[in-house]
Amino acid sequence: MSDASRRPLIIGSGIAGLYVALRSRELGLRPTLVTKSLLDESNTRYAQGGIAAAIGPDDSPAAHLEDTVRAGDGLVDVSAARLLTFEAPTRIADLVRYGVPFDTVNGQISLGREAAHRHARILHAGGDSTGHSIEETLKQRAQEAGIEARERTVLRALRPGSREGPIAILSDASGHEVEHLGPGPVVLATGGTGSLYRQSSNPSVTTGEGVAIAFRAGALLTDMEFIQFHPTVFWRAGAPRFLITEALRGEGALLRNEAGERFMPRYHKDAELAPRDVVARAINQEILRSQHGCVYLDATALPRDRLYARFPSITTFLSAYGLDLARDRIPVAPAAHFMIGGVTTDLEGRTNVEGLYACGEVASTGVHGANRLGSNSLIEGLVFGEHVARQLRHPSAGGPTVPAQTLRIRLPEGTGRAEESPALDEIRDTLWSGVGIVRQATGLRSALLTFERISRAVEPADVDVLPGALANAAVTAALVARAALERTESRGAHYRSDYPKKVSAWQHHLGLLRQPPPSSSAPGSSKKVMPRRGSPP
Ligand code: FUM
Repeated sequence: MSDASRRPLIIGSGIAGLYVALRSRELGLRPTLVTKSLLDESNTRYAQGGIAAAIGPDDSPAAHLEDTVRAGDGLVDVSAARLLTFEAPTRIADLVRYGVPFDTVNGQISLGREAAHRHARILHAGGDSTGHSIEETLKQRAQEAGIEARERTVLRALRPGSREGPIAILSDASGHEVEHLGPGPVVLATGGTGSLYRQSSNPSVTTGEGVAIAFRAGALLTDMEFIQFHPTVFWRAGAPRFLITEALRGEGALLRNEAGERFMPRYHKDAELAPRDVVARAINQEILRSQHGCVYLDATALPRDRLYARFPSITTFLSAYGLDLARDRIPVAPAAHFMIGGVTTDLEGRTNVEGLYACGEVASTGVHGANRLGSNSLIEGLVFGEHVARQLRHPSAGGPTVPAQTLRIRLPEGTGRAEESPALDEIRDTLWSGVGIVRQATGLRSALLTFERISRAVEPADVDVLPGALANAAVTAALVARAALERTESRGAHYRSDYPKKVSAWQHHLGLLRQPPPSSSAPGSSKKVMPRRGSPP
C-alpha cells in the first residue's frame, strides 16, 4: 500500500464520515476528515426518530428486510437491503462499544415502533436526541483516536488522479486558499440536498454539492428523482422548520386540520401511521384546500410525563414558542427531508470513478428503493461505512452497474458571472414549487429552465476556474428535476399528478451520467485550477 492510500480523505462529518474515519483508523490507516462547517454540525445531529436494527426478541433481520423492501415500492435492491438489515445488529454493537448511551429499560436497550416497521426495532439515545448523542460520541472517539479533522474546509472539485484515487481540491470557507490533495482514495460522506428546498427539515449544510462534484467528475448518479418529504415539521412564520418526529404519531398523536377534524382516516387505512409519502401528500392536500398554511399534531391525550421524557428536544424547542406538547396542538407542515438517490455505489461503497467511494445519504445503493423506511438512514451510514473502511484497507476492483436507462447530461456552458445570493433563493423556491411533493410536467420543465438559466449565469466559462456553491446547487437541482421529469409514473416518494399511477415498465432505476465536454481542455486537464473570485463555496 502506498503512503497516499494509507491516508484516505473523508469528506463530511455526519455518522457515515465519522464512522469511516474511526473504523479506517482502527484498521491501521491515517484518515483525514474534512468538513465544511464544524465537526459536529451535520444532518445526523438533528436526527430524532432513531436508528433501526432487528435486536428485539420477537424480531429478525429477515423481518426488517421485508419491511424495508415493502416500503421501497418495488425499487429496493434486495442485496443491499439484506446487507443493511443483517449487518445492522453488529454495527449497533460497534456504537455500544464506542459508548453511545442508548436508552434502556431494566438494563436492556429499549425499542420503539415506527410507521411501516412491523416490530419494535428503533433504538434511541436521549429520547429524541438520538442523532445528537451518536454524533457527540463518535466525535469524541475520533478526537481521542487522534484523527486529523479539518473544519471549515470545503471540497471544491475532484479531478482525475491515478488508480489510487482522484485529486481533491479543497479550499477554506472563503474560497480563496486552495489546496490540492492526492491522488488518493476519497470518501464522499457529504449528506443530502434537503436545504436546497425552501421548506426543509435539514440544517443549512445539506446543499447537495457532493452530488454535483461527483457528477462533474464522471460519477454515475441514480434515483435522483426520489426526494423524501417529511410530513411534520414545525410551521410558524419566521421559526425554523424543526422536525416533529413521526415517533410522536407512533405514540398515538393525531393529525387534525384547521377545523379540528382528524383527517388521515379519509386518506389511508393506517391513518397517521400510513407511509410517509401518503401522510405528506394528505397534509399537502389539506393545506391547499384550506389555504391555512398548516395542520396540527395533537398529542394532548398522551401522558404528560411520558411526552416530556420521550421527546425532550421537541419539548424544549416548543417551549421557546410558548407551546406545550401536552397542552397544545402543534402547527406542522411537510418539508424536504432525505435524498434517497445520489452517487451510485456497489455494496462495497465503490463508485465508477476509481478510488472514489460514497456512503451515507449522498450514496445511492438502492437500499431504500423509491421510499426510505424511517430510521433506516443512520444505520445505512454505519453498514455501508464499514464496507468502505474495509475497502480502504484492502482495495479491490468493482463498482456499480450502469442502469439500462441512463441519461447522458451535458453541463450548461456558463458565462461565469459573479454569484448572486438571490439566485439561491430562486433555486429553493423553484425546487419547492416545481419539484416538490406533487409534480407535473409543466412545473418540472419550467423548473429545469430556471436551473439552466441560473447555471448558465454562474457556471465558470473557464474550465480552470472552480465552480462555486451556487453553480453546484444549480446542477444538483437540475439533476433532480431532470430525473423527475423523466419518470412518468408515481412511485414511493415521487408523485406526478399527470401520471398518478405506478407503471410496471418503470420498475427500474434511472441513471444520470455526465456527457463529456467536446473539447480536450475539459475539466480534468492538468492545468492549474483557480478559485473564482467572490464565490464563497
Ligand atoms: O420522524 C422522524 O423522526 C424521522 C426519522 C427518519 O427520517 O428516519
